[in-house]
Amino acid sequence: MTIRAVVKGVGHYLPENVVPNSYFEDKLDTSSDWIVSRSGIERRHFAAEGQTTSDLATNAAKAALENAGLSGNDIDAIVLATSTADLTFPSAATMVQHNIGNTRGFAFDLQAVCAGFVFALTNANALIQAGSAKRVLVIGAETFSRIMDWQDRGTCVLFGDGAGALILEAQEGTGSTDDRGILSTDLNSDGSYRDLLYVDGGVSTQSTGVLRMEGKEVFRHAVEKLAQTAHTALDKVGLGSDDVDWVVPHQANIRIIQSTAKKLGVGMDRVVVTVQDHGNTSAASIPLALSVGVANGQIKQGDLVVTEAIGGGLAWGSVVVRW
Ligand code: COA
Repeated sequence: MTIRAVVKGVGHYLPENVVPNSYFEDKLDTSSDWIVSRSGIERRHFAAEGQTTSDLATNAAKAALENAGLSGNDIDAIVLATSTADLTFPSAATMVQHNIGNTRGFAFDLQAVCAGFVFALTNANALIQAGSAKRVLVIGAETFSRIMDWQDRGTCVLFGDGAGALILEAQEGTGSTDDRGILSTDLNSDGSYRDLLYVDGGVSTQSTGVLRMEGKEVFRHAVEKLAQTAHTALDKVGLGSDDVDWVVPHQANIRIIQSTAKKLGVGMDRVVVTVQDHGNTSAASIPLALSVGVANGQIKQGDLVVTEAIGGGLAWGSVVVRW
């Protein structure tokens, strides 16, 4: 008997404030055409003043619970991937726990920047396979608008705020790749690339800091490492590109998404793309794309879905799940 972490529900939340590329044209030496042609981004959402990451995460969690037909206390564990938690502590996850009325589970944050959601899914899968939890709420939520340098045109036009959530439930499988649920995972990191993408402040330096990025270098690593990790995750369970129904990539840049799909041998008609509407929402981007993909009828039960992401660290990875 194989225990599988099966998707029971999905949901997302985007702040009301939609910011088009034209917003930046008055403030910076940039143009909407440049942003669209270099990144594919047309608009993004920014959280309202006072709206925090746990607020966004709570809304996404409630949407996922409703989608699954569950209530807060049906959840055993909450794993929240974020680099922009409300406070140094307690975790944003425990705030969500309280907000959804969960009084019996455990909750914690996990930080792997833009790869956070694949790291969170992998950890949730491990909790379920170890018997530590039967139902896990996995959330990616960010307010990257709080860590932007608004004078840096190479970064501030690329990021947005949002949250997505997935509920995983332990179910018995046969052990074959026909089972629903998480089939395979692959995680990596290499701290020698620290200076390519980082925030120049933090608790230990007594500041918040802003995001710094070597865009071209990150781009180069992304294209190489994303295809590699997705191939590795598929190889582990004897699957190939032809078996994939949907690639749901981290939504950072349409050119990275297209190059990775090409390397994977998957046509763009099998890739869920939301970067035009959300920008890069870091750990929230994959659950947002999964939720949008389900809502618009792309991803259906039984489909083989491959997620892949890379971010600061560098940290990167992939999860293969039969929906
Ligand atoms: N508007 C206009 N020009 C801009 C600009 C903007 N918003 N941002 C940068 N530029 C300029 C640069 O200053 C540079 O000018 P220069 O040649 O005079 O120095 C020029 O555009 C070309 O920059 P370049 O870095 O070659 O562009 P690019 O094709 O690499 O695109 C990124 C820039 C940032 C969009 C791209 O490198 C990228 O997306 N990288 C990956 C970033 C990412 O996904 N990070 C998150 C991973 S989780």
